[in-house]
Amino acid sequence: GILVPSSPSSATLSPVILTQDELKRIAAYKAVEYVKSGMVLGLGTGSTAKHAVDRIGELLRQGKLHSIVGIPTSKKTHDQAVSLGIPLSDLDAHPVVDLAIDGADEVDPFLNLVKGRGGSLLREKMVESSCRKFVVIVDESKLVKHLGGSGLAMPVEIVPFCWKFTAQRLQNLFEDSGCVAQLRTSVENGEPFVTDNRNYIVDLYFKKDIGDLKAASDEILRLAGVVEHGMFLDMATTVIVAGELGVTVKNK
Ligand code: 5RP
Repeated sequence: GILVPSSPSSATLSPVILTQDELKRIAAYKAVEYVKSGMVLGLGTGSTAKHAVDRIGELLRQGKLHSIVGIPTSKKTHDQAVSLGIPLSDLDAHPVVDLAIDGADEVDPFLNLVKGRGGSLLREKMVESSCRKFVVIVDESKLVKHLGGSGLAMPVEIVPFCWKFTAQRLQNLFEDSGCVAQLRTSVENGEPFVTDNRNYIVDLYFKKDIGDLKAASDEILRLAGVVEHGMFLDMATTVIVAGELGVTVKNK
């Protein structure tokens, strides 16, 4: 584990096991070191990005940052940023974002990502494909060899109109990889989960490697009814990984 003083007055170091949430916070605080006054900032969504937004709010309040403007990637992050007094704008007014900070569900060795298990992938992709620098923050549990290979969901945002038809077409696309397409439902009432853009999410589960990611991306986007998918290929410029042995910064 990471060595920390066993008490504030103690000079001896003892190992402590950090919780996953503490690791997320460590990665987030490290990413906020890239934030400078005057920047247009993409504000990510999820339990890791939340720590980064909190930290930006704190630095503003302390007067250590000024003249920044945030572009939130979800209604939830919008509300959090408002509560912290972070000045907000959008891509219409600021089409170029200096720096975006966001979490991810999976990161492969080439810094390709799966995002969207929190359901905000469309706005995230719009903001993060418009930025000069995209810093991804994760704890080490998010590192994978192959995207979609962990048996976890690969989210696709689709329009609600004839969603079963679109889900079936998505499943058919990846038949050879043993793909199962499942409509995401809300845990509270079993109704379809509705995104900030009033769309649905279909989660794709793969039994086998999906192979060429770029080809898979193109095929998904070619289907009418698909709005966007959660593969973020060749977008991250930096990935900050917090683990029990410390923080690693991977640059593209
Ligand atoms: C939301 C996302 C999140 O960044 C991703 O799901 C990671 O979330 P968390 O930091 O809570 O693990 O893509 O759409």
